Amino acid sequence: MTLLQSARRLADNWLLQPILKVAHKVFWRRRSVEPAHQSGGSQQVSVQINGSEYSFFKPLGQGFYGSVQQVTCLDQTFSQESDTPPATNMFAMKMIPRKEPGAEADSKEVGIMSELKGCHYIVGALGTTTDDQYEYILMPDAGGNLASLTQSGNSAGVYINTRKRRKALNVLDKILERMSPRDGSFHALSEEMARKVFRGMLEGIHFMHEKEIVHRDIKPSNILVGQNGTGRLADFGAAAHLSDKPSEGGDGRFSPPERSSEAGSYTKASDIWMAGACMAATAISPAAVYTRRNKPRSTEEIRANVEKADISGDLKRLLLLMLQDNPALRPGAKELLSEPFFMTIQPL
Ligand SMILES: Nc1ncnc2c1ncn2[C@@H]1O[C@H](COP(=O)(O)OP(=O)(O)OP(=O)(O)O)[C@@H](O)[C@H]1O
Ligand SMILES: [Mg+2]
Repeated sequence: MTLLQSARRLADNWLLQPILKVAHKVFWRRRSVEPAHQSGGSQQVSVQINGSEYSFFKPLGQGFYGSVQQVTCLDQTFSQESDTPPATNMFAMKMIPRKEPGAEADSKEVGIMSELKGCHYIVGALGTTTDDQYEYILMPDAGGNLASLTQSGNSAGVYINTRKRRKALNVLDKILERMSPRDGSFHALSEEMARKVFRGMLEGIHFMHEKEIVHRDIKPSNILVGQNGTGRLADFGAAAHLSDKPSEGGDGRFSPPERSSEAGSYTKASDIWMAGACMAATAISPAAVYTRRNKPRSTEEIRANVEKADISGDLKRLLLLMLQDNPALRPGAKELLSEPFFMTIQPL
């Protein structure tokens, strides 16, 4: 496991979230008063994209690569790259710190997002801009993430990555882990909700796979759920073209059994595993998929947990198809969408 992956696992430990939240607040306060983003001398920050001004409203999430803020567009005229103007003036803005201030913008995420336009099940970019410190990606505000929806009292995706703190937090992690049950604040998705959310997820994956792009970081905090309950795939920070021979990426807790750092080892079927693990973690429990120490369980353990879970036969069948050791046996996203689980008629 790489240092990066260890840091991500540590970050996802819900017991550390209150500490990490404070760290995020301190960090954000420092960044938010930087002159480059100040508007009219006030403390409120804003960014211009395609001639419209977006003012920062409140933090929506903090991921490993960037922070995401809710922003509001104060201009009357809407001028963005999107064909259809949104019904709201609230948006989400992802800010990715530049590796080298002043250097050319370097985020692969922006490039991939521009190739993924036109799918309702993908949270795409409405516009982008850069300054010396950040790349900004303007997106529709797509709602809450699936991790926070299933974890009461736990906000998703806050992290910390300095080595000293990592060591200290690891010790704390060990102590806290003995004291509290991992799934204490977890609420499984109802099957009715799961049907809508998972359908959206698979539609988004199908769209990407048709373009020979793999997501590589499918997990609950990267699935956004809007007010109508539809799931949408977000966060293309780890996505790659298959022709780029991608190796293992993303969050280790959901990684497929074929995990390896070899170039070309990551395929569309690996995304299907990650989606299945993400579904099991939210429709059954996180403990069905990974341990308290955030280590992925073996395929045998995960399949046994699915078999014995109190879920419908249709959902079990779907999960067992996706969570197969042999990548060649996992059906593609399109095929999975015609599984009986998705055929159930919703009561009016
Ligand atoms: N368009 C959006 N609408 C609403 N919330 C969003 C949006 N995009 C991101 N978020 C929130 O911000 C969080 C972090 O965003 P994102 O996953 O893109 O960042 P990241 O740094 O790439 O994360 P990761 O740790 O998964 O690599 C998400 O989990 C979600 O809660
Ligand atoms: Mg994310």
